[in-house]
Amino acid sequence: MLPPDRSPSRRSDVSPFIAMDVMSAAFDRIAKGERIIRMEIGEPGASAPKPVLDAARAALDAGRIGYTEALGSRALRQRIAQYYADTHGIEVPASRIAITTGSSAGFNLAFLAAFDAGDRVAIASPGYPAYRNILGALGLEVVEIETSAETRHAITPEMLERVHAEKPLAGILIASPGNPTGTMMTPDALAALIRASDELGIRFISDEIYHGLVYDGVAETALKTSDRAIVINSFSKYYCMTGWRIGWMVLPEILVRPIERIAQSLYISAPDLSQRAALAAFDATDELEIIKAGYAANRKLLLEKLPKIGFDDYFPVDGAFYIYASVRRFSNDSADFAQKMLAEAGISATPGADFDRIHGPAHIRFSFAGATTEIAEAAERLENWLA
Ligand SMILES: Cc1ncc(COP(=O)(O)O)c(C=O)c1O
Repeated sequence: MLPPDRSPSRRSDVSPFIAMDVMSAAFDRIAKGERIIRMEIGEPGASAPKPVLDAARAALDAGRIGYTEALGSRALRQRIAQYYADTHGIEVPASRIAITTGSSAGFNLAFLAAFDAGDRVAIASPGYPAYRNILGALGLEVVEIETSAETRHAITPEMLERVHAEKPLAGILIASPGNPTGTMMTPDALAALIRASDELGIRFISDEIYHGLVYDGVAETALKTSDRAIVINSFSKYYCMTGWRIGWMVLPEILVRPIERIAQSLYISAPDLSQRAALAAFDATDELEIIKAGYAANRKLLLEKLPKIGFDDYFPVDGAFYIYASVRRFSNDSADFAQKMLAEAGISATPGADFDRIHGPAHIRFSFAGATTEIAEAAERLENWLA
């Protein structure tokens, strides 16, 4: 007789990523033949642009797909450096760029290279759940800073100083445009927060994954203000390459070799095929801007329809492809509301508890990255269901 099996580690006891669980629930229904309009995951409905697909086909035809250096192919790193020169007018040496398996790997690498177990890292609430879950799994202390409409849902230098004075922080991570809110920091507010972090010796991490998807305002890169910031970005959103699992980081000099060493052993290299395909993504702007115009149309449609249906309290949708709205007119439990909406209206969306453990149950996140016809149908279904 064997003794009872060992328990999983304590650090594996992180919250589920609820959006992914809702996606599974939607797939269960789709497998049974139901037609579900999927608005739970932040994933472009469009395929990768043609130049990317052509580059991938050419790479396959050419034969061998291998490992690359852990920091990524030199050609792609060089191309990303060029992107910063073209788009932001700043010189970033390719040697400070690392290619990762999506920005998700970038967070793991950044947290491992920049912090030790027990270090405190601040994030905004509401915010992207994986930050909290990865930090927790790595044994870091997550310091959630509650934000409000007063500061446009951003962490301010004063908030940072206050939290740091209570007990020192090692890092802060922000996203602008953010998820689930889509709200952006102004370039001045972002620069002020980065300067405050640098002055306090707090490592600033900027998740710039929704750059390129901006409807109102300007998305500035943290690199404009500081070369100490870690910038994390991805081909998943603007470039429509979620499933290719490819992203990048721009690193301060001091973290390049540590990240390289950890990446070598953590996953060796990002997929070569995806790296070769991503090289062409920067030449697909015409196609990508058409896709973005579709999101803008979806945004307009939802911002017209949702308030009339009763979702009249939502965060400013400056960028990304989400509407984070209050469900207070219908329910005080958005998880229950989302379940009923899936079962009765055939629409999947993510309850706010994924993003905010305190106020989340009052909110729901709709992703509008699908086709406009589907989004229009979703609005109609919602209207009928809630009538
Ligand atoms: C704010 C934010 N950061 C990072 C990610 C992870 O994206 P990926 O790993 O595909 O680059 C997401 C995905 O939804 C996100 O919303």
